[in-house]
Amino acid sequence: MKIKFVPPRLPRTGTLVLFVGEGRKLSPQATQLDRRSGKALTRALGASRFKGKAEETLAILAPAKLGVARVLLVGTGKADPADRALWQHCGGVILAALNGAGESEAAVLVEAGDRAAEIAAHVAYGARLRSYRFDKYRTKEKSEQKPSLKTLSILVDDVAAARRRFAPLDKIADGVFFTRDLVSEPANVIYPETLADRAKELTELGVTVEILDEKKMAALGMGALLGVGQGSARPPRLLVMQWHGADDKKQAPVAFVGKGITFDTGGISIKPSAGMEDMKWDMGGAGAVIGLMTALAGRKAKVNVVGVGALAENMPSGTAQRPGDIVKSMSGQTIEVLNTDAEGRLVLADALWYCQDRFKPRAMIDLATLTGAIIIALGHEHAGLYSNDDKLAEQLAAAGKATGETLWRMPLGDAYNKMMDSDAADVKNISGGRDAGSVTAATFLERFVNKVPWAHLDIAGTAWATKDKPTAPKGATGFGVRLLNRFVRDNYETRDGK
Ligand code: BES
Ligand code: MN
Ligand code: ZN
Repeated sequence: MKIKFVPPRLPRTGTLVLFVGEGRKLSPQATQLDRRSGKALTRALGASRFKGKAEETLAILAPAKLGVARVLLVGTGKADPADRALWQHCGGVILAALNGAGESEAAVLVEAGDRAAEIAAHVAYGARLRSYRFDKYRTKEKSEQKPSLKTLSILVDDVAAARRRFAPLDKIADGVFFTRDLVSEPANVIYPETLADRAKELTELGVTVEILDEKKMAALGMGALLGVGQGSARPPRLLVMQWHGADDKKQAPVAFVGKGITFDTGGISIKPSAGMEDMKWDMGGAGAVIGLMTALAGRKAKVNVVGVGALAENMPSGTAQRPGDIVKSMSGQTIEVLNTDAEGRLVLADALWYCQDRFKPRAMIDLATLTGAIIIALGHEHAGLYSNDDKLAEQLAAAGKATGETLWRMPLGDAYNKMMDSDAADVKNISGGRDAGSVTAATFLERFVNKVPWAHLDIAGTAWATKDKPTAPKGATGFGVRLLNRFVRDNYETRDGK
């Protein structure tokens, strides 16, 4: 699908999309189309249940004089020009309605006004985000099963301003799409080596990409990460990406660390087979870090950022680690592995330590599909947020609200920490009970973080969706890319004139 910004000349073909506010208020521009068409629209509205609430849609046959085949009315509720999420959702809803109707071209009329260019850009952004589709393995699809929309024109007065505003959003969408692609791929295609290879593509954007193999990791003493990978025929990797966008290339970076378990069988503590296919997306944290780097480098963000991916496949085999094994992490702490299915925290223990040790970051944020328990606690509406730093937690929560990738703060503390003491080693990888499963996992991670401001996002409930959302079709959501792009932009990036 192509998205274009064009001056507001009414199209003669396809669908004309008009926004309607609460109380069925047609935009002044729409009522000026011509008197007879305006009246026909008002009549059609009157005969429907459509109220103009946000994200409501009503498709009608166009009044004869308009030339277009159909008119799609889209509710905007209070139509707050500054509410970016609203306009993004509208864009997404429009895209879905047009594809649902089999339309191939459409034009969205954006009301003239101070914020028209911004609204136009966010409608386009929402439409693009919703248009994602992972269909490379559907070889027998008939054309009527494929999305029909070829061109979406956004009619707006200041075309240049709209394009300028859309450009960085388009780069963020590139990052979201890359994450969704990586997360959607099955585990026979994406395993540690191939995931690292895909990340290598970022060198084209100016990102430095290093890949550490088992030998290098062994030399660094990463026994926790290596232990998780040792049962698989696919060797583990540590992915290290650096983007130097700040004027001062030596300025300490902001660091992101992702859990990249390309498939999680549970290992010897094997998972039940029902639903195990979901565990192809257990690399969603690393996938989000790769997409975030794509977005930041794509829009040339003025900031230094490091992205680390802890990549391994968790398999049962004759070489797999066993429950009860004790491994030595890079930090020097020994870990008693009581459950091989609590593997995400093991790979992160070494990746977090390595990251803070090598880069001395200003802040370090990890993302991980870490626990089923966070889904019990928060469902799919928020990711769990843990932090040793209130300011960092607030910044992340604010970025979450602004992007719709929302976070909910969860506790850490001594009482939980004690639950992870081991009789045989420095720490054990499970508490032994089901209580506070997501909290004890976060507490485990905290033992591998020094003084650096750190936050952990448990994204097990948000990396994958079983239902369509306004700006994301069901499947891999790309959760974290938009959130962390915003977090970086608001708190670390220098912008011209600032
Ligand atoms: N990858 C899983 C967590 C997960 C579960 C993600 C469901 C997405 C959906 C993780 O490695 C895991 O297996 N966690 C265990 C921890 C337990 C053994 C303490 C869990 O949540 O059951
Ligand atoms: Mn697991
Ligand atoms: Zn896992």
